[in-house]
Amino acid sequence: MSLDTRIKLNNGTAIPCVGFGTYKIKDGNEAYASTKAALENGYVHVDTAAFYENEKYVGNAVKDFLSVSDLKREDLFITSKVWKTEAGYEKTLKAFERTMDEIGLDYLDLYLIHWPSSYAFDDDWENTNRSTWKAMMEIYKSGRVKAIGVSNFLTHHLNALMESEVIPAVDQIEINPGFMQEETVKFCQSNGILVEAWSPLGRGKSLAHPVLEELAAKYGKTVAQIILRWDIQHDIVPLPKSVHEERIIENADVFDFEISDEDMNKIDDMEPYGNSGHSPDE
Ligand code: A2P
Repeated sequence: MSLDTRIKLNNGTAIPCVGFGTYKIKDGNEAYASTKAALENGYVHVDTAAFYENEKYVGNAVKDFLSVSDLKREDLFITSKVWKTEAGYEKTLKAFERTMDEIGLDYLDLYLIHWPSSYAFDDDWENTNRSTWKAMMEIYKSGRVKAIGVSNFLTHHLNALMESEVIPAVDQIEINPGFMQEETVKFCQSNGILVEAWSPLGRGKSLAHPVLEELAAKYGKTVAQIILRWDIQHDIVPLPKSVHEERIIENADVFDFEISDEDMNKIDDMEPYGNSGHSPDE
């Protein structure tokens, strides 16, 4: 297994098992440099979003990398997302065009609805999600994205889409130790929806915990590597972010060890401590 080991999605598209996350990298030079560093260090999967305001720099890094690499566009896997203010059919179609202009690529591998419409702020949230999804299916059928999915959808949000002609291929949710979102993960994995983990390191907050520090010492790895490996062994695709090349490299060095079932359970059983507290329904 390595960074370019791929997992088949429910539509046959294959997704690399770890991705490079770019949330919070708003500075253009930093977004460009860190994405390029990730690609140069073997990452073949990059996750951005309109909301991150860095699609242009991520796209530039991808294009510049490809111009000097033996790899081709089809060897890479690039994701972007439509922000929640663009919910609904027409707005989503327009948001997609803006994303494609910004990122400057011929196609995306994955396009996601970034957050669901929710009963907390939209009485007609199920229909709003269906109408956003209708646009996503149209974009998918145009061939300009290889797969479509959602992010931050819990089971009740997903349920509103499960009768659609195209079922989401991916749900990208927050997952870090102590915050496993078991119900959503179980629903996704039993319905053929691949789970991706945003904030796998709890934005850095998950890295200091005695249980994980003990496991890191036991396996001779860092806490970040233990967490990312834990995701992978749960068939979850983690999207670690860093602007530091040595950490980008560290976060990719997760294929030379295996966490035992007993130690996986120890991490599964941790109490929440590093999660963001963001919920789509609040
Ligand atoms: P930085 O970008 O300054 O390297 P997440 O992926 O959960 O969003 O976490 C990202 C946060 O964790 C960022 O603040 C990042 O800082 C930090 N980070 C990423 N990788 C590592 C690592 N291997 N060791 C320590 N901190 C890390």
